[in-house]
Amino acid sequence: MKPEIRRAAEILRAGGLVAFPTETVYGLGADASNAKAVARLYATKGRPPDHPVIVHFASADRAFTWASKVPGAARKLAERFWPGPLSLILRRSKLAKDFVTGGQDTVGLRVPSHPVARELLKMFQDGIAAPSANRFGLVSPTTAAHVREDLGAEVDLVLEGGASEVGIESTIVDLSAGSAVLLRPGAISREDLEQALMAKVKEAGGSSPRHSGGLERHYAPRTPARLVPTHDLDKEIEKLKHRVAVLAFSRPDERVDCWLRMPRNPEGYARRLYAALRELDTAGCETILVETPPQAPEWAAVRDRLQRACEA
Ligand code: TXA
Ligand code: MG
Repeated sequence: MKPEIRRAAEILRAGGLVAFPTETVYGLGADASNAKAVARLYATKGRPPDHPVIVHFASADRAFTWASKVPGAARKLAERFWPGPLSLILRRSKLAKDFVTGGQDTVGLRVPSHPVARELLKMFQDGIAAPSANRFGLVSPTTAAHVREDLGAEVDLVLEGGASEVGIESTIVDLSAGSAVLLRPGAISREDLEQALMAKVKEAGGSSPRHSGGLERHYAPRTPARLVPTHDLDKEIEKLKHRVAVLAFSRPDERVDCWLRMPRNPEGYARRLYAALRELDTAGCETILVETPPQAPEWAAVRDRLQRACEA
């Protein structure tokens, strides 16, 4: 793996694009200090230029050089959760240029824990800009094969790292304006954050900064997907029968050809979610029915992704 990772660092240095595994989802990486490389990254993803990307680092010390102000809360969260599935939004230093921040005066920073990502970041030494390695708006990749399916020849190298352990994107916390605001729920829950900070963490309201994870339709399969409460599932299946694909907690129903059964714990569900949506998307069905997950707080991140993937 080492020579492969060294090659990846050289490609990044030369302005190329490298997809790499992280514990959340696979990222599409570019040298975060190279305007041309980041422009190519945006073009490859089909991402609007005013949407900021998260910059990845090998350590909190390096990450914080990209911030002009590092509040105590940021240090606390970094100490507790980095390396890991957390991104922090802070006021940017001069190192974070407009082309990674979408022109905002804040920057998204993350120190991932996946061993391949860590090795790459250590070798590269600087910041790697990396959105999820999928086309804009579609389901994020959790394996190297997903990345090849989505972006194939447009990426210079795809590093292998197995299936992503967490399975959904990092928790994003905005600390740029004083109090902590949760911009995107993830494996690290609001309760985890509040415990570490010993302070309240607000949910993002309508006036939070631009972030594409906040767009309504996002992480979506091409086949229309719909959330259905458990007690309506049977009725909906009866209407559509073999024309539906189903993602549910219960056992497969014989009327449905394509049925994926999901774990009843939120960690297991999150880990399987994107691969499952991709699989159901290729089943050639009219609709994907998704059984609504529980309302409990530990399901918040899964509910968030499902609400974005589904039309209603
Ligand atoms: O788990 C993850 O965070 C993955 C892996 C690859 O690290 N990355 C990821 O990146 O999900 P992306 O670009 O697909 O989503 C990053 C989110 C976007 O919604 C982006 O707009 C937001 O972070 N973001 C980045 N910088 C921001 C900033 N300065 N202010 C507000 N939102 C920001
Ligand atoms: Mg994304």
